[in-house]
Amino acid sequence: MKLIKGGTVVNATGPVQADVLIDDETIAALFAPGRGPGDVETIDATGKYVIPGAIDAHTHMQMPFGGTQASDTFDTGTRAAAIGGTTTIIDFAIQRYGEVVQDGLAAWHAKTEGRCHIDYGFHMILGGVDDDALKAMDQLVADEGITSFKLFMAYPGVFYSDDGQILRAMQKARDNGAMIMMHAENGPAIDVLVKQALERGETDPVHHGITRPQELEAEATSRAIWLAGVAADCPLYIVHLSASKALEQVAAARDTGRNVFAETCPQYLYLTLEDQLGAPGFEGAKWVCSTPLRSKHESHRADLWQGLRTNDLSVVSTDHCPFCMKDQKEMGIGDFSKIPNGIGSVEHRVDLLYQGVVDKKLSLARWVETIATTPARMFGLYPRKGVLAPGADADIVVYDPAGRTRISVQTHHMNMDYSAWEGWEIDGAVDTVLSRGEVISSGGQYRGRAGHGRFVRRGLSDYLR
Ligand code: URP
Ligand code: ZN
Ligand code: ZN
Repeated sequence: MKLIKGGTVVNATGPVQADVLIDDETIAALFAPGRGPGDVETIDATGKYVIPGAIDAHTHMQMPFGGTQASDTFDTGTRAAAIGGTTTIIDFAIQRYGEVVQDGLAAWHAKTEGRCHIDYGFHMILGGVDDDALKAMDQLVADEGITSFKLFMAYPGVFYSDDGQILRAMQKARDNGAMIMMHAENGPAIDVLVKQALERGETDPVHHGITRPQELEAEATSRAIWLAGVAADCPLYIVHLSASKALEQVAAARDTGRNVFAETCPQYLYLTLEDQLGAPGFEGAKWVCSTPLRSKHESHRADLWQGLRTNDLSVVSTDHCPFCMKDQKEMGIGDFSKIPNGIGSVEHRVDLLYQGVVDKKLSLARWVETIATTPARMFGLYPRKGVLAPGADADIVVYDPAGRTRISVQTHHMNMDYSAWEGWEIDGAVDTVLSRGEVISSGGQYRGRAGHGRFVRRGLSDYLR
């Protein structure tokens, strides 16, 4: 038994003074301060927040993409996540066009088995929606604990699904209770703009963003929402939403009671097309991701923070898809379209969103809700995870509001040769991390191990109706 004593427990319902008793892998009880047992190992949380371990519902460890592979393995990536207060990830297993869905899934189980430091689940990317893939969706939901499927309206020739394929997958999801996750960007139109830009000699990284205007995110978001409506209001979750006009589509759908949800990511809340993607020379490649960073001269960041407050944005995930500059991002020198798409932030999401609390953009409760509780409820992990309550897994973070976090490539644990957040300082710090009752990180000392993390079979979303 262990008792986390003296802290302020923050669930999505708000803060309360309480001590948390852990019995082996789960939470046994919450006590009024000082009322818990006295003869057990204690963790002193005086002056600190005690929150549910964070859940990153969107990661791509060692994902083959853009002619290379994301640089974090499941070992390095889940270790970095743990150090940053994330105790569960949901990664994307991939079915490529022409591949059997279950074979793609088996490949992800093989990559993760014995290598993860924290618990993990999978969503399934469907790269080729056909009769077999549709049947496989049923099997994954019924037998494999995989209850969400990502489709792409972008990346023609890679992961792209046309509207007919999307509709069929949505109809299937409506029947079996799965969630459709959508990469909502109009890929064929983007490809035209990319070709035209390259023909004009516009090859720098900033043109990655300029050729992916927010209208093409908003159009795809709107189309996905209409298609989900045709599929009898299939549950739809828009991933990595970056821009005001796309958010307007989601908000309008939600205002009419639709089963539509969206996530954003820290990079869209803080970083911009001009300041990062537009950095001199090839530097901007560090921030090439899709959807792209948006203009600081428009209201995207303020609108996204507001969307988080109003629940038009339900979740903050990282879309962690790291690539090194050397040999990876560098593949796009002279042609931005060859820069592998992705940013690595899995270690920093808890801190970066806590800065939103310090800046009075989010309440403490909403911080916890967007990084832990709603991801758990959205993706069938609740109440096992995402909440500090009796019976839940003892995935717990002790967070020190008096601490300070300085982000740098010199000190981060992700397998990247740069940091997208170099020099950022946050007014708070992860102090102690427990995964299923085991202290895996404490006071800057990492004590976890590869193989501790287990695959978690997920149920259906709590938000289904
Ligand atoms: O740039 C990104 N987002 N890379 C990862 C793949 C995806 O679309 O999520
Ligand atoms: Zn995507
Ligand atoms: Zn992604």
